[in-house]
Amino acid sequence: MTISSKNSNIVWHHATVTRQRRSELNQHRSILLWFTGLSGAGKSTLAHALEEKLYQVGYHTFVLDGDNVRHGLCGDLSFSNEDRIENIRRISEVAKLFIEAGVIIMTAFISPFRADREKARQLVGEDFVEIYCHCSLDVCEERDVKGLYKRARKGEIKDFTGISSPYEEPENPELLIDTGRQSLDECVDQILVYLRQRNIIK
Ligand code: ADX
Repeated sequence: MTISSKNSNIVWHHATVTRQRRSELNQHRSILLWFTGLSGAGKSTLAHALEEKLYQVGYHTFVLDGDNVRHGLCGDLSFSNEDRIENIRRISEVAKLFIEAGVIIMTAFISPFRADREKARQLVGEDFVEIYCHCSLDVCEERDVKGLYKRARKGEIKDFTGISSPYEEPENPELLIDTGRQSLDECVDQILVYLRQRNIIK
């Protein structure tokens, strides 16, 4: 049962300003770039660097980022499996709205479970682009930008991805980016090449 099936008395309202018309106004198509990977793998850094590049040449973009969204929209959610599933469900729905709004939407969430990423793919269809930010646990832990790995190792943070909660690697992502070894510019370029191939950008 889906959430919307609880509401049997509501009818979908069709907009006259459609996705197609928004694309014409924006002069580019929308798409969802779904960044997944361990905490510290560089998902947000990469998404924001890409956004900066795209913005500078006139593309309409937005980044939804785990740490930020968990202050608001998902502020009621913990890191239990159940709450992570709900986190990703909400983000998938929000991302779908951004696609309708004509935006190049980037989501930077650990999104550790394959099944949830698959659901997002089902919801969004061919506009879903899974980008696996591949970085070994050792490197993420060594970087430990937020000091969370150290605390997780001490047992101060429970259900920590990679330590006490699983991360299920993507099996067939559209893009695998070696964020552990490549420079930020190289990573951004890899995505730009892909977006050109898909005719999203010129
Ligand atoms: S997800 O698993 O539900 O996709 P999300 O991307 O929203 O996670 O949030 C991850 C961020 O929350 C991490 O980058 C980290 O800064 C912080 N965080 C706090 N507690 C945890 C935890 N137990 N596991 C992973 N990340 C955590």
